[in-house]
Amino acid sequence: MKVAVLGAAGGIGQALSLLLKTQLPAGTELALYDVAPVVPGVAVDLSHIPTDVKVTGHGKEDLATALKGSDIVMIPAGVPRKPGMDRADLFNVNAGVVKTLAEGIVENCPKAHTCIITNPVNTTVAIAAEVFKKAGTYDPQRLFGVTTLDVIRAETFVAELKDLNPADITVPVIGGHSGTTILPLLSQVEGVTFSDEEIEKLTHRIQNAGTEVVEAKAGGGSATLSMGQAAARFCLSLVNAMNGEAVIEYAYVDGKGEHARFFAQPVRLGANGVEEVLPYGDLSDFEEKALNDMLDTLKGDIAKGEEFING
Ligand code: 2OP
Repeated sequence: MKVAVLGAAGGIGQALSLLLKTQLPAGTELALYDVAPVVPGVAVDLSHIPTDVKVTGHGKEDLATALKGSDIVMIPAGVPRKPGMDRADLFNVNAGVVKTLAEGIVENCPKAHTCIITNPVNTTVAIAAEVFKKAGTYDPQRLFGVTTLDVIRAETFVAELKDLNPADITVPVIGGHSGTTILPLLSQVEGVTFSDEEIEKLTHRIQNAGTEVVEAKAGGGSATLSMGQAAARFCLSLVNAMNGEAVIEYAYVDGKGEHARFFAQPVRLGANGVEEVLPYGDLSDFEEKALNDMLDTLKGDIAKGEEFING
């Protein structure tokens, strides 16, 4: 098995690569690619950790070698938000980054599972899909927008509010990965009840959790460590699924859904990626309204990505 991390020298990339170096199954190859010249150093640094995961570093001109033979490609590459910015403000730079990297995947590992972290995820996933489609390599089962961070944040915040162990909490989060498109289904959290006021506040906090970090870092970037953890969890779930385990995760996928072309929802992962798109259950009136209210935004975000490639 080979996993490539594109943007491996950045804040998310380094955290993610560290977690993968220590948690991937023995014998896995971990290829780190970045345009930043420090990437071979990051690879050497990680290579001193005694696990049976072979780390290689690949600079700017070496995308092909990093990607060749990869089974999973994790993409955190791009620029992060500064205070006052929305994820959509990153479009101008990050759209081009994702396009270039997706073209590299077409050339070098068209069958790989591609997991996109680069923001705005609602849009960059559509960009990758259109690049793959144009090349004739698009497989909706193998393209993911990573929304695991929304899930782990929701679980953490619920546990905090109710004084519970986050490990015991499961919160479904559907929709997209930006502002109001992030929809935690708090009505489905087992064993916990919320007042209307708590639901409103908690939903807002989960939707704005990325901004909470951006503001706390005061110009120093956005979430890197929690996103590294979330992306590592998703990658390891995919590895387990490819090794025959039935794994369920929430992810932003092309599920032929009724709401929008791409939608974050529960999926059963298997050897070929998304084996089954699962139902997300009944929504409360509050959630139903939030879902209807977000759809124009989500569809607009997706259309922007499609237009970026198709004009
Ligand atoms: C976040 O949610 C970086 O999009 C990322 O914080």
